[in-house]
Amino acid sequence: MYYPDEIVEEVRQRNDIVDVISSYVRLNKKGSNYFGLCPFHNEKTGSFSVTPSKQMFYCFGCHVGGNVISFVQKYENMTFQEAVQSLADRAGIQLPEAEDAGARERENRRAQLLAINKEAGKYYYAQLRSEAGKRGMEYFKGRGLSDETMQRFGLGFARSSKDETFRYLRSKGFSDELLRESRLFNFRENSGMTDKFWNRVIFPIMDSGHRIIGFGGRVMGEGEPKYLNSPETPIFDKSRNLYGLNIAKSTKAKNIIICEGYMDVISLHQAGFDQAVASLGTAFTSGHANLIARYARENVRQGEMTRYKDILLCYDSDGAGVDAAKRALSILRQAGLVAKVINMRPYKDPDEFIKNEGADEFQKRINDAENGFMYEIRMLESEYDIKDPTGKSKFITDVATRLLGFEDPVERDNYIGHIAYKYDVAKESLDEVVRKQAIAGTGVSIAPKPMATRNEESINDASRLPQGRLLSWICEKPEIYGIVKQYISPDDFADPLYRKVANILFGQLEAAAPNPADIISMFDDEEDQRQIAEAFHQNVGNLESIEMQKSALKDLMINIKRLSITRTDREDNSFDTIKKLRKELEDLQKASIDISSIE
Ligand code: CTP
Ligand code: MN
Repeated sequence: MYYPDEIVEEVRQRNDIVDVISSYVRLNKKGSNYFGLCPFHNEKTGSFSVTPSKQMFYCFGCHVGGNVISFVQKYENMTFQEAVQSLADRAGIQLPEAEDAGARERENRRAQLLAINKEAGKYYYAQLRSEAGKRGMEYFKGRGLSDETMQRFGLGFARSSKDETFRYLRSKGFSDELLRESRLFNFRENSGMTDKFWNRVIFPIMDSGHRIIGFGGRVMGEGEPKYLNSPETPIFDKSRNLYGLNIAKSTKAKNIIICEGYMDVISLHQAGFDQAVASLGTAFTSGHANLIARYARENVRQGEMTRYKDILLCYDSDGAGVDAAKRALSILRQAGLVAKVINMRPYKDPDEFIKNEGADEFQKRINDAENGFMYEIRMLESEYDIKDPTGKSKFITDVATRLLGFEDPVERDNYIGHIAYKYDVAKESLDEVVRKQAIAGTGVSIAPKPMATRNEESINDASRLPQGRLLSWICEKPEIYGIVKQYISPDDFADPLYRKVANILFGQLEAAAPNPADIISMFDDEEDQRQIAEAFHQNVGNLESIEMQKSALKDLMINIKRLSITRTDREDNSFDTIKKLRKELEDLQKASIDISSIE
């Protein structure tokens, strides 16, 4: 952390979450909470809630959540420090000069690394346009790139040399240590630093602020590896940057095109599709999805509507491209985004398509892009023999499970209708299968599961629910803490994150009042923050009578104690601990809980 905790807490307290969020999202008061349309996913009904008493937000649709600082961070795509700075400005708080020497040092190094990349970029750029870069120039021209395009993307060339670039940059005054950290060079004890990129054409990779954060280099012609890329550095996080976004972010187009490679983006831009970006060799990540979500959001002032640009996947036509598209669809969906898929056949990728068919034909393919869900279903079809009646039933059952992924009943019904028509089954029958699958509880996420993200785990893991609920309840009614602590200790929370939260929360209650929004600030990780907000937004339920509250609280504590025993059994194995916990469970079951005092 760059700023002392007290300052962060002051900044947080002086920025009321409802005030701040209201300047971004239209909120309506419902009971003691506020609701609005979630700015982080596309929705028609407001599942985004802001709770003034807890100073937190949480979306019941896409499960993002946090406090006022994490909101600004997420909405403005800022770092924690930037968000604190901006909120401090808003509240007129003077922040101390970054006291933390380590932080200043890190900032300084980042600036230096950016400066190195900028110099290197200029160097490669000049080489491409010099005598030494003739081969590179021929290569790019051979691929149909105009001078203007080469300039817009800052393309360059690294000529054959052992350590020419290295010596050039050193002459600019950068230290060996920093140059090594830039990862533009290979280092060996015996031969020292040598240029990583040589005899390759160079694609500088920029962040959305046009700063060069890394490079890709391609062999001219055949050769391995075809592309060589900068590894991750403190300024280059591959899962949070998209190639071409620095230009695509200002497009006037009503869609965003996601493709696979450097040349795809460049060809598309040259053909007039300046809305194209690429995830660059690395698989599409949830970081990319968040980035896309932010730029896809097009605020249309008239009315309070938030319009989204269409998100179009334009991956290679081969098997790997299909797998990548399925994976990306699923990740986008988790971020609340629905994408469409552009068909490039019979060509391999958009670059080849444009070269052979031109821009108008590509525009037609955009217009004909297939709905992502229908695309997945069509791909699924090939896994079954649907000409065979049994094969077809199996396929339809599989489709039905996937249909359960739609939470909105109207949307689901639309898809049911569509699929029934397309695969020639009676809509009533498909309805019936979907209902059966729902009862059987086989609802799986609609895409073939990619690597399970922590996000998915947390939502699916039923054991976390009661733990979060108790945390939430204690916050809402701190009066029950006196009872809870007689039976439950922070160690009883089986989930490691919730255990930490319980520790802090119980500590706060011993000292003063609960402060859940402050707890969030104590966790750096965005996913941790989200899960904590999720816990604190659990509905305790509207329990009218004291009797009902009593029994609900007791059930909840019993449930948590049981989970605690299971965990200890699994992790600890200490017989004494388990014996102690069993005894506590027995006491709890026998206890008559008196919460009459809480009303
Ligand atoms: N890629 C990479 N390393 C490789 C191969 C590919 O980083 N050895 C990344 C590059 O970003 C590349 C993208 O994956 O642009 C797509 O790869 P591929 O389809 O093989 O290349 P193309 O984009 O078609 O490149 P080109 O048209 O230049 O052959
Ligand atoms: Mn290609």
